[in-house]
Amino acid sequence: MSKISEQELIEAAREARKFSKAKYSKFKVGAALLTADDEIITGCNVESSSYSLTICAERVALTKALSEGKNHFKSIAIAALDDAYCPPCGACRQMLFDYAPDIDVLMADSNGIKKMKLTELLPLAFDESQLGR
Ligand code: THU
Repeated sequence: MSKISEQELIEAAREARKFSKAKYSKFKVGAALLTADDEIITGCNVESSSYSLTICAERVALTKALSEGKNHFKSIAIAALDDAYCPPCGACRQMLFDYAPDIDVLMADSNGIKKMKLTELLPLAFDESQLGR
């Protein structure tokens, strides 16, 4: 049992979305990663004038957590538009898989939460076992 409910994690993602730097796309995203110790690490998307340097909310949350020595995770919540849930992009799926392959992904909109395993979102993932063969 987690001390943090799914709804609380979604709320944290929505709070993080307020800090989104989506000045080009106007598409604001917030993410909240739940550690094995029930700590919440948030992120928002940060866009660049050199568009391809943009980093998604999920990878901001993940890299924040890893850079603080937090290496074990249970789930991630993602909040973007209120009328449509936001599935993580391919790059975020890969990086989440590299560091948190077993997590649940909670995608929220105003209708509720769509919950999937990361492994469902990224079947047959490339991973470190492929390296050095
Ligand atoms: N974005 C995210 O932050 N997460 C996703 O899962 C999908 C896309 C951001 C990147 C960019 O700032 C904006 O949404 C539009 O693609």
